[in-house]
Amino acid sequence: MPAKVDMDKIVSLCKRRGLIFPSSEIYGGLASCWDYGPMGVELKRNVRDAWWKSIVHERDDVVGLDTSIMMHPGIWAASGHIDSFTDPLVECKSCHLRWRANEIEGKRCPKCDGELTEPRMFNLMFKTSMGPVEEEASTIYLRPETAQGIFVNFDNVITTSRKKLPLGIAQIGKSFRNEITTGNFIFRTREFEHMELEYFVKPGTDEEWLDYWVKERFDWYVKLGIRKENLRLRQHGKDELAHYARDCYDIEYLFPMGWSELEGIANRGDFDLIQHAKCSGRELGYYDAEAGEKYVPYVIEPSAGVDRSVLAFLIDAYDEEEVEGEKRTVLHLHRSLAPIKVAVLPLSRNEKLTPLAKEVFNKLCPNFVTDYDDSQSIGRRYRRQDEIGTPFCVTIDFESLEDKQVTIRERDSLAQIRVPIEELGKSLEAKLKGEAFDASALWATRQK
Ligand code: GAP
Repeated sequence: MPAKVDMDKIVSLCKRRGLIFPSSEIYGGLASCWDYGPMGVELKRNVRDAWWKSIVHERDDVVGLDTSIMMHPGIWAASGHIDSFTDPLVECKSCHLRWRANEIEGKRCPKCDGELTEPRMFNLMFKTSMGPVEEEASTIYLRPETAQGIFVNFDNVITTSRKKLPLGIAQIGKSFRNEITTGNFIFRTREFEHMELEYFVKPGTDEEWLDYWVKERFDWYVKLGIRKENLRLRQHGKDELAHYARDCYDIEYLFPMGWSELEGIANRGDFDLIQHAKCSGRELGYYDAEAGEKYVPYVIEPSAGVDRSVLAFLIDAYDEEEVEGEKRTVLHLHRSLAPIKVAVLPLSRNEKLTPLAKEVFNKLCPNFVTDYDDSQSIGRRYRRQDEIGTPFCVTIDFESLEDKQVTIRERDSLAQIRVPIEELGKSLEAKLKGEAFDASALWATRQK
């Protein structure tokens, strides 16, 4: 079953509503680079926070870390990235476009039918140099994964956190890959953000933990609103495993261009710790005091992209519906991901309404990400909030001046309830935590 929305609609909504803009647009743009606008930055932050909450804060066996993007070049030699983080590249002899050899069929250029060169291996790491003199010795790399910053800090974390294995170390941060082919909006870019967990376990228990993390991560997407039928698992064949992996599963999502990787969960074995111990000369192992044994842990690694998750959440939430004879575009985003939680909308700009509406806004904004909008008709303002996925709109009308009550409108059901301003904060808090929107409550009046 194809996904119901095409990418152009998502790109256009993102531009129109301040979610994502082409980078460097006034200079004609820069291929595969995107900027997150006022709504996008909130959505992205919410995705990161949801991951961090479920991986770090809600568990006592995972701690966080934030390591530098630029690291000692020896790390990339040890990790195998200098030798093996490559893609086979072919170039068209006529139009000079470059392609990933494993992504094209035949021996001619898909664009101009020109003759292609023989494949050569192309390293995906961005090189730069550190310090004022550009010379071989000052070459460093922008990290292509955050994982290595975790491995080289394993000993620091183990000795300072006083935790026992199994123990996870989590990190969120930018990664850079000089991808040969990019595209499909924010699906594959050269600068992106990783959310990575390295979960260190006793060898022999690794297969069990791999199964555990595959299920945990699959369920995370479902809990945050992605429909199960748009997700599937795929185990890597032996020939496609990364150079460090013993086993790997991809969680795939049904993107508009077809089933594609959303997240990878790999069993990296002891590859990285052994390599770093060998190349740094520092011992990297674990002493299990209870069992009186020493070993090099195996690592299970769930590795997801923030941007790719944002894209999947947007696509899955997107809907076009008919409401009272009019078309509305709506993002049914999970309330914890929605960029704005509450919009305060005075019925009009009438000077009698503004003070009360501002008072309500000022009351709400310390506790909820709140928007205040009094431009154009109320209908148009509802549509605007629907398009960015705001779960609740609060309307202040002339009756509110008399009875000190306001109307809450729920995005998905379009049901409306009237609530005393006194109780508004408590009521919204409960609803944002998942309390059902009960339009039949005693003080509720349902309006069309
Ligand atoms: N440390 C393991 C690792 O990086 P990966 O499968 O190469 O594994 C993990 O990447 C996730 O990072 C992918 O599933 C995807 O969500 C995201 N990702 C990888 N390359 C990306 C790119 N060029 N643009 C956007 N996201 C990317």
